[in-house]
Amino acid sequence: MSSRRHFMQQCALMGAFFASSPWWSRYGLAEAGMLNRSIPASGERLPVIGLGTSRTFDIDQASAELQPLREVMAAFIAGGGKLIDTAPSYRRSEAISGALVAGAKARESVFLATKVSSTGREAGLRQIEASFKALQTDRIDLIQVHNLQDTQTQLATLRELKAQGRIRYIGVTHYLESAHDDLLAVLKREPVDFVQFNYSVGARGAEKALLPYCRDHGIATLINRTYQAGELFDRVKGKPVPEWASAELDATSWAQLMLKFVVADPAVTVVIPATSKPRYMLDNLAAGHGRLPDAGQRQRIVEAFA
Ligand SMILES: NC(=O)c1ccc[n+]([C@@H]2O[C@H](COP(=O)([O-])OP(=O)(O)OC[C@H]3O[C@@H](n4cnc5c(N)ncnc54)[C@H](OP(=O)(O)O)[C@@H]3O)[C@@H](O)[C@H]2O)c1
Repeated sequence: MSSRRHFMQQCALMGAFFASSPWWSRYGLAEAGMLNRSIPASGERLPVIGLGTSRTFDIDQASAELQPLREVMAAFIAGGGKLIDTAPSYRRSEAISGALVAGAKARESVFLATKVSSTGREAGLRQIEASFKALQTDRIDLIQVHNLQDTQTQLATLRELKAQGRIRYIGVTHYLESAHDDLLAVLKREPVDFVQFNYSVGARGAEKALLPYCRDHGIATLINRTYQAGELFDRVKGKPVPEWASAELDATSWAQLMLKFVVADPAVTVVIPATSKPRYMLDNLAAGHGRLPDAGQRQRIVEAFA
């Protein structure tokens, strides 16, 4: 199928919301490609805005909540997004991710990242096999050891699967600053392609050692909790987005300012904000375009959220 026809099909899927207001002209997303970064291990490029699925994709496939998620996925793909992060422990989210990607006939254009959270080799392998089924694919792009559970055993399995060509990259994750030292210790001991951790305008601990280490040692980073699960929006509730955000940084929302704050660190490969709303998806995608803050502007963003 031609890419234009595919694009139009995606837009049709997105329904009245996008039909009433051509989102690509409003956001300028279609004209310019999204900012992207390379995976140091391979040189493969990834668009900086990815998609998380924890909680937001944990729905009943037969429920009315599926349609907005279809639109989230269609907007993500049409807007140039690629990396989708899920996990077996996100309950139905992994299978919903697989179904939405299959429904959009988009397996070849997305990068599927999931996790293993088991103890012991056999349990890990069973969980990984279930992920292949849930994601409806015979090749998973990235599997990460979730929250450093049984790291050494699971990484050994992931290396075997990588050697067999069933997965393309391996990694480790956590979501708490209190685990950053443990993550760093693993990175120093075990060769991995990716590491995922939390970093945001409200939680800047990763700047101390993790981000510099990844930059210096060629490890791709996925950044979770860029909105601290949505809590950071409370800090700016009722406050207008400052004029300098659009004038200097092409940012028209608090969400875009938060994502640009994170993406401005060159050691960041992909951010993975989660959403169940198509309009938030578009907002998040827009952060992958336009200017990024320098050190002084990042400080102003920090102060705006203080
Ligand atoms: N240990 C791990 O490996 C680990 C741990 C945590 C997270 N993660 C990954 O990282 C992803 C992101 O973390 P997270 O889900 O905890 O939180 P998050 O991305 O920081 O925040 C998600 C919340 O922000 C809201 N939101 C998203 N875009 C918005 C926008 N443009 N404007 C206003 N609100 C917006 C969403 O609201 P709606 O729900 O209303 O759309 C959602 O409730 C997860 O989904 C998961 O894939 C991994």
